[in-house]
Amino acid sequence: MTTPSPKAPVLQVKDLQVQFATNDGPVYAVNGVSFDLARGQTLGIVGESGSGKSQTALAMMGLLARQGQASGQVLYQGQNLLTLAPDALNTLRGAHIAMVFQDPMTALNPYLTVERQMTEVLQWHKGLDRRAARQRALAMLDAVKIPDAAGRISRYPHEFSGGMRQRVMLAMSLLCEPEILLADEPTTALDVTVQAQILALLRELQRDLGTAIVLITHDLGVVAGVCDQVLVMYGGRVMEQGSVEHIFARAAHPYTRGLLQAIPRMDGEASSLRAIPGTPPLMAQLPSGCPFAPRCALADAQCSQEVPVLQAIAASQAADEPFVAHRACHRTEAQVLHHEVLEAGHG
Ligand SMILES: Nc1ncnc2c1ncn2[C@@H]1O[C@H](COP(=O)(O)OP(=O)(O)OP(=O)(O)O)[C@@H](O)[C@H]1O
Ligand SMILES: [Mg+2]
Repeated sequence: MTTPSPKAPVLQVKDLQVQFATNDGPVYAVNGVSFDLARGQTLGIVGESGSGKSQTALAMMGLLARQGQASGQVLYQGQNLLTLAPDALNTLRGAHIAMVFQDPMTALNPYLTVERQMTEVLQWHKGLDRRAARQRALAMLDAVKIPDAAGRISRYPHEFSGGMRQRVMLAMSLLCEPEILLADEPTTALDVTVQAQILALLRELQRDLGTAIVLITHDLGVVAGVCDQVLVMYGGRVMEQGSVEHIFARAAHPYTRGLLQAIPRMDGEASSLRAIPGTPPLMAQLPSGCPFAPRCALADAQCSQEVPVLQAIAASQAADEPFVAHRACHRTEAQVLHHEVLEAGHG
């Protein structure tokens, strides 16, 4: 018998596309997302509001809105989740693949106590009796550091603060020790101390359970300490992807570079912090070329006419690099870096 390699992917996403039918015609919310995720690894998906992060995760879980349609492949245990029968998908969801939703209040049932919601999951998926399920639920609430879990488990979701609700969501998603966790902005709207605690908690649980995590955030700062690889999205497309080292040390897409310059640094002067001018596009009115072209200082006529193809970066790839870096841009790496040097000279 052969044992699977520890780095063999538990999840493979190939050319994932999401389309919505709307009164104004089709909206192409996700276009060609691909990645491999191994046990115990974390992939970060970053990008501004509306870039397609949540729809990527929802499509993987088979949870798109009714007018949404996904294509491509989401491979788990040799099966494509996108074409799996609803019953089979239901069995996997929650138990093998779990999701922390962006808004806990839409995911938690306001009419049921936290105890009821947590124990039902365990009774359904794990066949535990009520008593054993309660014990397990309490242990998980303890693990996410809910103070006085025994006293609070019988409360309703609205009786928890925002930060505590995020923790309850996290505890619920981890109840069945899923192999894969999709965490959509699990720390947004939390103050920085709580954010750091939740991220530390995720890392701890990942270490103990070997969970593979997809972490969605609009904050590139958050991915730095947590992720192995990063996927940068804009206007429903992947602009750049690669190892966390690639993104932070060798990123060569104008959008990624813009995001990096917008991260506040402890050692930086206030003047070095630059926001990307302009706002993200409306998905129903995307420009015909590169979606980032209208905000990109390097864009020319080609950029506003032709969508750049996501291509492997051969030149800057280190030999021992675990993830092949990709970039979708008509400008060369040298052109992007040269432009920045000129800008810095003028600034
Ligand atoms: N039900 C829908 N019908 C039509 N278009 C939709 C629908 N849901 C989402 N979209 C489109 O998909 C795009 C991507 O949405 P998504 O929720 O993935 O954004 P996001 O990157 O998660 O943003 P945020 O950071 O604000 O959560 C949106 O800009 C929107 O145009
Ligand atoms: Mg979202």
